[in-house]
Amino acid sequence: MTGSASGIGAATVMALAAAGYHTVGLDLNADGAQRVAMQAELEHPGTRHDAVLCDVADEAQVVAAFRKAHAFLGSLDALVTSAGVVDTTPFMDISVEQFRRIHDVNVVGTWLCMREAARVMKPGATICAVASIAGLRGGGLSGTAAYASSKGGVIALAKNAARVLAAQGIRVNTVSPGATDTPMIAQPLSNPAHRQRIENLAAQQRIGRAEEIASGIVYLLSAQASFTHGANLVIDGGIVMP
Ligand SMILES: NC(=O)c1ccc[n+]([C@@H]2O[C@H](COP(=O)([O-])OP(=O)(O)OC[C@H]3O[C@@H](n4cnc5c(N)ncnc54)[C@H](O)[C@@H]3O)[C@@H](O)[C@H]2O)c1
Repeated sequence: MTGSASGIGAATVMALAAAGYHTVGLDLNADGAQRVAMQAELEHPGTRHDAVLCDVADEAQVVAAFRKAHAFLGSLDALVTSAGVVDTTPFMDISVEQFRRIHDVNVVGTWLCMREAARVMKPGATICAVASIAGLRGGGLSGTAAYASSKGGVIALAKNAARVLAAQGIRVNTVSPGATDTPMIAQPLSNPAHRQRIENLAAQQRIGRAEEIASGIVYLLSAQASFTHGANLVIDGGIVMP
C-alpha cells in the first residue's frame, strides 16, 4: 500500500484491515504511516500492519521498501498505489521541474511499485492503482496540466500492466476518484466559490469521503471482482458518467 499516511491511502489501510488483510504502508510521511498502521492493529486485532519510509519516485528506495514489505508479510497478494501529488499551477506558469516531479511521483512511482510487486506476486494476486477523473476529463476540478496528464498516464499504465501481468495471473485495475475530502485538496476547497463549483459538477452535488473510495478499492482487490481486469472504476458522485 503506498500513500498510506493520509486520505484515501489511510482509509484503504483501515478498510483492508477490516477485511482481514495485513498491510505495509510506503509513504514519505513515515510517522503518519506508522500511526495509521498502529490504528489498524488496534481496531482490527489479529491483523498485522507496518510502515516504511519511501519516496515512490526513487527506484532504490522502492526496491528496498518492497523487500521489507515482503519480509514482513511473507507473501504479496495485493498492491494499492495511492501515493500521489497534485499541482494547481496554471498551464502557462508551471516550471519544467514541477511538471517532471508530478510525473515522477504519480507515473514513474506507480510503475516502479507495480514492477517490484510483480517480481514477487503469485498467480491470484491483484493490483489497484489510484488514478483520478482528471485523467479522463483533462483536469477541470483542482488539478492542472501536470496532474491531469499524469493521471491519464496512470490509467494507460495500469491498462498496459493488465495486459502484461495477466500472463502471471495478476489482475490489475484502477479507481478514478472525483473530488474527495482529503488533505490533498483541502487548500483549494477552502475557497467557498471553488468548493461550490466542484460540488455542482456532481449529480450528487457533493464531495466524496475517502472511505467511499477505499470501499471500491477493496472490492476490486477481492475475489468478487475476479473477471474485472484492466477496468477503471470511476467513483465521483456522478461527474464523468463514462
Ligand atoms: N482527494 C482527491 O480529491 C483525489 C481525487 C482523485 C484522485 N486522487 C488521488 O488519490 C491518491 C491519494 O490522494 P489523497 O487525496 O488521499 O491525498 P493525500 O495528500 O491525503 O495523501 C497522499 C499520500 O501520498 C504520500 N506521498 C506523496 N508523495 C509521495 C512520494 N513521493 N512517495 C511516497 N508517498 C508519497 C503523502 O505523504 C500522503 O500520505 C492520489 O494519487 C491522488 O492523486 C485524489
